[in-house]
Amino acid sequence: MKKKMVGLMLCACTALAAAGCGGKKFDNPDRGEALIMATNAAFEPYEYYDEGGQVTGIDVEIAQALADKLGLTLEVEDMEFESIISAVNSGKAHIGVAGMTVTEDRLANVDFTDSYTTSRQVIIVQEGSAITGADDLQGKTIGVQTGTTGDLFASDVEDATMDRYSKGMDAVLALQDGKVDAVVIDSEPAKQFVAKANGLIILEEEFAVEEYAIAVAKGNEELLDDLDKALDAIIADGTVKGIIDKYINAE
Ligand code: ARG
Repeated sequence: MKKKMVGLMLCACTALAAAGCGGKKFDNPDRGEALIMATNAAFEPYEYYDEGGQVTGIDVEIAQALADKLGLTLEVEDMEFESIISAVNSGKAHIGVAGMTVTEDRLANVDFTDSYTTSRQVIIVQEGSAITGADDLQGKTIGVQTGTTGDLFASDVEDATMDRYSKGMDAVLALQDGKVDAVVIDSEPAKQFVAKANGLIILEEEFAVEEYAIAVAKGNEELLDDLDKALDAIIADGTVKGIIDKYINAE
């Protein structure tokens, strides 16, 4: 009997924790507390592990600058890209910062801050491939990172076979090995991935232009407002540009 009770209590606690500690899910961190950022740290130059095993990159530095403005410390939680929105909504994390594109579908589940940068989807192929643009993707096998906008767009290609990977780099390695015909992914990570592989090129044609923003639990207007004000300030004073320039060499 006693055992059962403990079991039940554990269940209740897990349920509460899953709900973000019983209704606390929209609570904002107080000054000095941690601002928890959910990300998928396999997306250089936005978020990736440096040689010392620390998660670094444009998004981490922007989140750090925002945390500084709000008087909070930053904590980074690395997870699958697909888990970020539910982590934010359940209160496991306060913000999702992961080179995340603002889309209509996502707006139904989370709120987004103002955009902090633009990006685009590109197509990676093997050198000498017959695929020279998006129209040539019809009927081909396309590698993508699961749940990304690259996945979304490629899934719309007529008769295409989708090959989904939990990491973008794994899709790129599959392309290098000839297991897929093309990869659709964000332009800056594409450059990093191609540089680490052999015999791959990025097509000039852009597939889609996108805005990256920070995801916040739906309805958390207070945190959204605080973040937007802080973001405005670090855009206006050149901090954001400085961070982006540090990681992305102007061409
Ligand atoms: N921009 C794309 C999207 O929002 C890809 C983002 C992937 N980010 C990551 N950290 N793996 O779907």
